Amino acid sequence: MDALALLAIETSCDETAAAVVTEDLHVLSSVISSQIELHAAFGGVVPEIAGRAHVALLEPVVAEALERANRSAGDPRIAAIAVTSGPGLVGSLLVGLSGAKALAYAWDVPFVGVNHLEGHLFAAQLESEALSPPYVTLLVSGGHTMLIATLGPGDYRLMGQSIDDAAGEAYDKVARYCGLGYPGGPAIDQLAGEGDPKALKLPRAMKAEGFDFSFSGLKTSVIRSIEKDPSLAVADVAASFQAAVVDVLVTKAMRAVEAIDATAIVLGGGVAANSSLRQAISEAAVEAGVRCALPSLTMCTDNAAMIGAAGWYRFRSFGSDPFTLSANPSLSLELEHLS
Ligand code: KG4
Ligand code: ZN
Repeated sequence: MDALALLAIETSCDETAAAVVTEDLHVLSSVISSQIELHAAFGGVVPEIAGRAHVALLEPVVAEALERANRSAGDPRIAAIAVTSGPGLVGSLLVGLSGAKALAYAWDVPFVGVNHLEGHLFAAQLESEALSPPYVTLLVSGGHTMLIATLGPGDYRLMGQSIDDAAGEAYDKVARYCGLGYPGGPAIDQLAGEGDPKALKLPRAMKAEGFDFSFSGLKTSVIRSIEKDPSLAVADVAASFQAAVVDVLVTKAMRAVEAIDATAIVLGGGVAANSSLRQAISEAAVEAGVRCALPSLTMCTDNAAMIGAAGWYRFRSFGSDPFTLSANPSLSLELEHLS
């Protein structure tokens, strides 16, 4: 008989995703339907539009994931259904949760709720050799900027996070101000390659100590600089902004690695696609003599394969969840602060 697999569903923000993942974390299929085009005209994700789009997309995305994995509805080789229960947009989460519960009920298989952040922490495991704890994950997306220490299976510590804007949010806001469209990260990343990173003197907030981040002042500084000198080349603005973000992210990530004597630094989240960040963190890791795990771009951004990986861990360690499990938009990782 073929390997037992888990059907995973992710709808926490603006990606409708489903995947089939085997118990030994082999990804049989991973389907992601991005809603970026629906939200681009509004310069960011519109929760109401996201929820409605998930309703329309969930069924075909799940069907595609099953077909690509050579599994059928109610297949006895599907051991359980895992789904993101938080954190995220409540309307979006509810669509995935309701769908997963309905399928689990109809197919009479266990249902497992997964923390989206734990999914990101498992993403690297799907592509690289097993990481040995302790290791540090820098999770940088449009919604989160976090340094998380993994000390053992399921044992996480939040070392630091942004006290205001997430890194991706800062990218998107600066890009919007410069008329570069949404999402802004890829546009700034590309333009930065043609600009002078020293053209603007920009602040590196909270760089000198600690593990928390602040990007709101940087964004304001960029806007002030452009207001003062509208003739500034956009490429120079992009390069200077990016240099400041990457400098702070890499400095703090490596400080965290040193603080817990980590074996590796792992990247996750949409901003982990950034070419300059990937290069700078790889170089810093070589210098520090630790492993650097850079998941592929599709594994960095929201996907259901990572929810499948975290789902297997949850299912094996804690069993299934009751159908009364509800969406929790501010679900935490039950993290404790180091210090
Ligand atoms: O993880 P993600 O797909 O969605 C969530 O926010 O959960 O991350 C999206 C964010 C956006 O803010 C986008 O501008 C940023 O990731 N991003 C980038 C790059 N590609 C995407 N930021 C910097 N450089 C990139 N190449
Ligand atoms: Zn995410």
